Amino acid sequence: MPRIGWVDSFSVHDEKIDDQHKKWIELYNRVHAQMMGIEPTDDYLGIGEAALAEMIEYTKYHFSSEEDFMKMIDFPGYEEHREIHQAFVRKLEAISSQMQEGTHVLNSEILKVIEDWFIDHIQKEDQNYTTHSR
Ligand SMILES: [Fe+2]
Repeated sequence: MPRIGWVDSFSVHDEKIDDQHKKWIELYNRVHAQMMGIEPTDDYLGIGEAALAEMIEYTKYHFSSEEDFMKMIDFPGYEEHREIHQAFVRKLEAISSQMQEGTHVLNSEILKVIEDWFIDHIQKEDQNYTTHSR
C-alpha cells in the first residue's frame, strides 16, 4: 500500500500538472517506503537519501513548470506562489543536507510534514491558478 494514493480531489483539472503531481506522489511514496523499511534502499548513501534527492530534483522541475504556466496565463498570484515554492524547496534541501551531515534522521514525522504540505498545496494554491486559467 503506497503512503499516498491519488484521489480525484487532488486534480487541478490540467492533465500535465496532474501527471506531474502523480509522479511526485510516486517519488514521495518511494522515499517513504525506504525510510520505513518496506522497500530496500536503492542507493549507496544513507537509507532513502538517493530517493529523497530524486524527489527534491523533481520538485524543482515541477515547480518551475508550474511557474512557467502561471506566467503564461498572467496569473496575478504568481510572485506569491513562487515564494511558497522556494520556501518549500529550501526546507527540503535543509532536511537533505542535515541527513548528509548525519545530524538528522528522516523520520515519519518529517515525512508527514512533507506529505501534508504537498497535498494541501495542490488542493489549495494550485487549484487557484488552474481555476484562473479556465
Ligand atoms: Fe504550486
